[in-house]
Order: sequence, then structure tokens, then C-alpha cells
Amino acid sequence: MVKPIIYITRKIPENLLKPYENTFNFRMWNETSKPVPRKVLMEESKQADGLLCLLTETIDKEFLENTGELKVIANMAVGYDNIDMESAKNKGVIVTNTPDVLTETTADLTFALLMATARRIVEANLYIKQDDWKHWSPFLLAGNDVHHKTIGIVGMGRIGEAVAKRAKGFGMSILYYNRSRKIETEKKLGATYVNFDELLEQSDYVTSLVPLTEETKHLFNENAFKKMKSSGIFINVSRGGTMDEEALYNALQAQEIKAAGLDVFEEEPIRSNHPLATLDNVICLPHIGSASVATRSEMIQLCLENLDAVYKGKKPLTQV
Ligand code: DGY
Repeated sequence: MVKPIIYITRKIPENLLKPYENTFNFRMWNETSKPVPRKVLMEESKQADGLLCLLTETIDKEFLENTGELKVIANMAVGYDNIDMESAKNKGVIVTNTPDVLTETTADLTFALLMATARRIVEANLYIKQDDWKHWSPFLLAGNDVHHKTIGIVGMGRIGEAVAKRAKGFGMSILYYNRSRKIETEKKLGATYVNFDELLEQSDYVTSLVPLTEETKHLFNENAFKKMKSSGIFINVSRGGTMDEEALYNALQAQEIKAAGLDVFEEEPIRSNHPLATLDNVICLPHIGSASVATRSEMIQLCLENLDAVYKGKKPLTQV
């Protein structure tokens, strides 16, 4: 039997592919860090039966209309805003994502970023490395407390819950805003459902954990930042598109809010001259929410299991 062709848009470890070598004919863009050029992706996808892609690939209408026998797209991310779902549906292409396996790792990073921003960890590290530390002093690099403060979680999905669990351990009050109320989460974690404005006004930490959709685009805009406490810290670990970067920059400059910790940006990658990256009270990370070796391996593994299921005529484990 002819093995289906799977095109993989980035170099991934051979050992993960090995168990599927008898099932699939793998073709791969052989670069670890550089995304596949669109032209190459379009060409390869014309011959492919399945695609294992990353969030760096724009799977839009034009792309989907020009594929041949493509049956399934396994997106190595829980978010799938890089894929035009409407066009995929019209074309009958199955799309899968990678929920669950990255939840705890992404929640760890959310908390790490929150704590690093609150306690100015990156500035403190630079302070020593640049040889600025001459004396100890009472308010040297003094930041904000995390324990017993209020966290506002916007988007109480799996990752939101995992962040809330961590917040509970720190004795924090947990407010959340979500499309729908999560009564079980409220009971389990003592979280309180509030409206968006209340969350902004009452939280010491406002965390964006919502997927990027029409409704959440620029949810965190000039108005939203104005409603936050001036001591408030904004953390974004979901998608850059949920925040208006210019409004965030202005709010930070005008000291309307205290600091921001950002793992995501509207256009990625950003350069060091990106306005937000030039501010001392902003920590910028290169979209590493789920980046532990174990979790990234599990995400790839889940993509392969989804592809395998589709070609065996079974229901994929995590279809979007
Ligand atoms: C996702 O999965 O959507 C993250 O942004 C990348 O891990």
C-alpha cells in the first residue's frame, strides 16, 4: 500500500517519527528555527496527504484552495488562529490541535512571568551582570508582592484553571472573566466571577489567557488599561492580538499601569527596538509558554497520533 505523505514544516527529532515510519512517508522542512517559506509550503502541500504545522504557518483560504489531496492538518499548538477554520471546513480538511498536554507547562510560565515582572527579576539579574551592584539598600529593586494579592484571569479555560490553582497556593484572591461561568472552578478554587471592568479595576495582576478570536482582538485596549490600578501588572501568555500594543505602551509610559510581562506579540518575532522591548518595566519572552522539552515532545507526539488516527479511519484525539 502507498504510504500517505505527511509534510512537516520544521525539523523535528527523528526518534519521535520512528514509530510512524511504516505508516507514513514523511517529508520535512529541514530547518530547526527558520520557518518554511510560503512558496515551498504551498508546493509541498499540493502533494501531501497530511500536514504537521506550527503557528508560524498561515493556513488561509488561498493556501487551502491550492492544496491537492490534503485531508488533515495537525497544528502543533492549542491555539489555531493561524488557520482559517471556515475555509478548512469548506474544503473538508480536518484540523487538530494540542490541548491538555501543554496546560501545566504554560501555567508554570504564566506564573514565572508574573513573578519575574512583579519582583523585577530580569532587571535584578542585569544589575549584577552590568556591575551596578555597589551597596545593599532598603528599596533596591523593590517590586510588588504576589502573595495575598488579587489575580484577574481573563479566559478560564484549561490554562486559566491551572494558573488559578497556582494562585491559590500563593494565597491570592482569584477573580475571573469568561464567556460562561465555571461553577465547578469557583467551588474548587474559590474563584469569583466578575465582569471585565470589575476584573480590571480590582486586580493587581491581569492575565490574558483567552484565545484570539474576533471578539477578543484588542480586548486589552486603551480603555481597559485605563481601568487597571496604577500599581497593576498586565501579563499576556495567550496571543499578542488580544492586546493593543500601542495602547499598552502608552499606558506603561504614562504610568497608568506599573509593568507588563509578555510572552506573545501581535507580529512575531519582535526585534529589540520594538517599543515594548525598550521599556525597563516590561519583560518580553519569545513565545515560550509551552517550551519545556517534555511538553514540546508531547505536542509533536499528539500531532502524530492525530494524523495516525485519521489515516486509520478513527476519530482524531483532539480535533478542533
Ligand atoms: C499554543 O499552543 O497555542 C502556544 O501558543 C504555543 O505552544
